[in-house]
Amino acid sequence: MNAQRGIPSSHQNAFRLYGPQFQNKPAELYRQMRTDYGPVAPVLLDGDIPAWLVIGYREVTHVLNHPETFARSSRRWNAWDLVPENWPLYPMVTRTPNILYSEGEEHRRRATAISDALSGADQHEVRQYAVQAADRLIDGFCAASRADLRADYASRLPAIVLGRLYGLDQKHAEVLAEAMTTMIDSGPDAVKAQQFLLQTMGTLVAERRKQPGPDVVSRLVHHPAKLRDEELIPDLVVILGGGHQPTTEWLGNTLRLMLTDDRFAASLTGARSSVREALNEVLWEDTPTQIYLGRYAAHDVELGGQLIRRGDLVLLGLAGANSDPQINPGPECRMSQGNQAYLSFSHGEHRCPYPAPELAEIIVTAGIEVLLDRLPDVELAVPVDELRWRPSPWMRGLVALPVVFTPVPPIGGQ
Ligand code: HEM
Repeated sequence: MNAQRGIPSSHQNAFRLYGPQFQNKPAELYRQMRTDYGPVAPVLLDGDIPAWLVIGYREVTHVLNHPETFARSSRRWNAWDLVPENWPLYPMVTRTPNILYSEGEEHRRRATAISDALSGADQHEVRQYAVQAADRLIDGFCAASRADLRADYASRLPAIVLGRLYGLDQKHAEVLAEAMTTMIDSGPDAVKAQQFLLQTMGTLVAERRKQPGPDVVSRLVHHPAKLRDEELIPDLVVILGGGHQPTTEWLGNTLRLMLTDDRFAASLTGARSSVREALNEVLWEDTPTQIYLGRYAAHDVELGGQLIRRGDLVLLGLAGANSDPQINPGPECRMSQGNQAYLSFSHGEHRCPYPAPELAEIIVTAGIEVLLDRLPDVELAVPVDELRWRPSPWMRGLVALPVVFTPVPPIGGQ
């Protein structure tokens, strides 16, 4: 450890992963990091807490393929004594007893149950709910001539559909969505929101134990893995939160791309073929989960030319890996068309579980198609350079997506 404010010597010139630099042009920052450090860069989190950010595609894949070396549980972390009281990132490292921090056989058991429970959803029905929910949301603003597609649409649709998969009605799903946003934003009410979510899931689990229905919660509760309430309740919060937030940003970032990029202008007047292309391009260029926290080294190990010490925190630079020039040579010969080798859903045993990516794609595709059908002349209400990104190194999403359109009457969806 070097004298300067407890920062280790390996991190004396580290990039700070907070402040405005990540907001607008993260791609430039990744380029700079690659030039200075290569595929693994020393970084400082809020409060100057040291970590390693892996931005090489090969190196991120290596980390994800070796969970015995780059393990998930934060009990291994060697920097607990540096963490200040009320550290804003505490919820991201705290040892919550959910699937995210479980390892080995315990993780496999929980991941299998979640996959099975999600697989029980009929994907045609999911598409139907998504279309109906999108119609209802659009009914709420279509008679006006403007809307904020993030607040009024993208940040609501995934929660409503996921809530429906849990067997909840729209009102309950929206209350949960608000609590999830409060929890994820890590503000002063975050802990209260988390308690509310855990309490609500507890009630839901108790109800479904007594009376199962055709929903994800019932399938998890009655799964042969025989998950205990202490496992089920936090995992139900992870599925909702882990599903809602990135799906919101995927929808919002794709709408932004289609509204701002000439290549997609044709689709706004009806052609649907390029929606899939836009979804894919967003995963390459503006992926919702930019950086994922994280993994902890189980022993000293060399990675991308850096010595990672036992217990060091390793951050998965998913956006950095996607833009690694070794695999993505840039916009001129873009990788995006049809190539799905991005790491946006991670990889390996903790990757976003099957069929969650498919469900997210169904929700996002329905969200875009219904919007284009209902408001065919929708366009940005502000110049593109006035759109602001949320100030987060973790998630890539807009603060607001203001649009204007010719008002149309509501259709009164069920
Ligand atoms: C229906 C929507 C979704 C659901 C229900 C969902 C659910 C989950 C769950 C339960 C996990 C924990 C897996 C584990 O620790 O074993 C997870 C992880 C993850 N998900 Fe998703 N997810 C959804 C959509 C998305 C989207 C749209 C993205 C990004 C484009 C995404 C990216 C990730 C990433 C990066 C991880 C972390 C994997 C790791 O630790 O390596 N997810 N998701």
